[in-house]
Amino acid sequence: MTSALRRRSVPRIFGTLCVAVALPFLAGCSLKQDMALQPKNRPLAEDELLVSKESNSFPLPLTQELLERGENRYKIFCTPCHGLQGDGNGMVAMRGMKHPPSYHEDRLRQVPNGYLYDVIGNGFGAMLGYSAQIAPRDRWAIVAYVRALQLSRNARLADLPADVREKVLHPPAGKNNEGTPETPGGKKE
Ligand code: HEC
Repeated sequence: MTSALRRRSVPRIFGTLCVAVALPFLAGCSLKQDMALQPKNRPLAEDELLVSKESNSFPLPLTQELLERGENRYKIFCTPCHGLQGDGNGMVAMRGMKHPPSYHEDRLRQVPNGYLYDVIGNGFGAMLGYSAQIAPRDRWAIVAYVRALQLSRNARLADLPADVREKVLHPPAGKNNEGTPETPGGKKE
């Protein structure tokens, strides 16, 4: 008998409690809170991230964090077709789909940043766009990462920081330096 009573009254008490707790919020606070929490700058920020296809500008600060985010998103969204290094040798492409071009071809090295951003959002030819899946900031992060991939094959010596340039020109002797200027002398192990 007690349990039947409890079963009947618990929902009612619970309901009353809910109303009591919710009412003041609905009446007074919620309006104020909504205004305080409004994401004021979101629409503006998205506009600022829109860059024309012809523009080579990059609308975000280029940081290590952004590049890492780009690498992470690239590996999820682009690698299946474009491959880890951007050659176009992803698993999907190897299974008969249209082969994407390599990012390392001259034409794609020279397209502006805005063009890459547009391809990611709107697609290109046989490739679908990812505007629904990838937010604008992440699209830019991916653009940065694609640029890094391109640079990894095409950096000029002069672009490197001095200490890195020094290592490329004069690799530390000793370890596994086959094919470096140290080997022609003929020292074999
Ligand atoms: C399902 C496979 C697939 C995925 C995933 C994919 N692409 Fe593509 N992509 C293609 C194909 C195929 C082409 C070539 C389309 C054509 O020429 O018709 C292409 C072309 C491109 C091009 C070259 C456009 C040009 O001017 O030739 C770029 C840049 C590009 N993709 C970037 C990306 C990036 C960045 C991602 C990840 C956000 C991505 N793609 C995801 C298949 C894919």
